[in-house]
Amino acid sequence: MRAEYRIDLTARYLGEAIAHPVGKGSGQLSLNDAQLEEDARAGLAFVLLKTLIAEDERGERAMSAWAIHETRMAVERRAAPDGRSGWTVTWKGRGWDRSLSDYLALVRSGRDLTRSGRLLVVPSVKYHLPRLSEPFREGEYRHTTAALAGAWGEPPLLLEKDFSPTLAGDPLADDRAQILRWLEEVPRQIRSASPVPVRIAVKLMNARFDDAFQVEMMRATRDADTLVCFNRLFDSQLGLAYGGWELSDRNLHVLDLYRPLPPSTDLYPYRPLPSSTDLYRRLCGTGNIHSGRLILEYARRGCESVQLHTFFQLPLSEYAATHGSRTARGLHTLVFHPQDGLIAGLLELESRGELERRDGELHFLDVARHAHRAG
Ligand SMILES: Cc1cc2nc3c(=O)[nH]c(=O)nc-3n(C[C@H](O)[C@H](O)[C@H](O)COP(=O)(O)O)c2cc1C
Repeated sequence: MRAEYRIDLTARYLGEAIAHPVGKGSGQLSLNDAQLEEDARAGLAFVLLKTLIAEDERGERAMSAWAIHETRMAVERRAAPDGRSGWTVTWKGRGWDRSLSDYLALVRSGRDLTRSGRLLVVPSVKYHLPRLSEPFREGEYRHTTAALAGAWGEPPLLLEKDFSPTLAGDPLADDRAQILRWLEEVPRQIRSASPVPVRIAVKLMNARFDDAFQVEMMRATRDADTLVCFNRLFDSQLGLAYGGWELSDRNLHVLDLYRPLPPSTDLYPYRPLPSSTDLYRRLCGTGNIHSGRLILEYARRGCESVQLHTFFQLPLSEYAATHGSRTARGLHTLVFHPQDGLIAGLLELESRGELERRDGELHFLDVARHAHRAG
């Protein structure tokens, strides 16, 4: 890309530089070694492992309702209220349904791929979320985080905390104060439970409240290093999570409303104070991303990388490429589509005067950087 188009796609997830912005969101596409190997070969930038349900040293899990087994997924068309047709995956499952030790084996495979520079692989966890009157079950935080740190090896440990759409549909998430307490305290709980320095991405849910509350959630998550915005919508009538255009419309609208605040700095004794350009929490986009243009819509609102799931599950006829894995075919469309690909979109931003070359190159990260510029 750099030699041919003078375009630098370097992006960032959880403070790590990655070759381009496209990663795979946690889910059914990152359950085993074969999937990781195929994605490394396809040239994906990063992968979130399926969400593990935390447990304490006795193997007890407060969130065990999320560790259910379900294999059947249906990839379906879903129309937005205004008629635009998109895709969604209908699925009744939830988190990782095998043992912690199986998960740790997968983390070790991911660590090896990460160390060899082929693919950044990061675990995802759902920890205990108490009611307002209850304490956090610290045993779950300690046992699970220490096990992950042991499997990962050299610090810092990177991990993503999932607040999932099925949680948004659960009576636990009916109370705004309760949700805000989780977002304020969970990153701190993880940090104090971890035997090593840890970088935390929080993947926020789309709560069943208005957009202003969505922004309040982002602001409340002060002690996360990265915010992933936002997991799928929840259809409470059907009891299902869904995506498509409604999801990206909502996510982009909320990101428009959000203005980043500096993180509190006193909680990070092990790392230097951030430089002035680092004063913002990093954002990573997710939701209905199926073109380079949509990647750029998230980037223009401050996202330095994106996580996709549905687009890597479409019928093969939906991709222009005629060979390779779904990940490889998807990446090909996202980057090279002549009207909607990343290259076309970046060149268009340049021609509109919204992106300038530095040292003769266009830089993807400049798109996100401009989102934070005054005015
Ligand atoms: C079948 C399926 C399973 C998923 N499982 C998880 C999960 O375990 N943890 C999580 O954080 N997100 C999960 N997600 C959410 C995706 O990672 C992604 O953020 C979301 O679907 C929005 O992106 P998309 O529109 O590209 O699918 C799942 C999504 C799907 C479709």
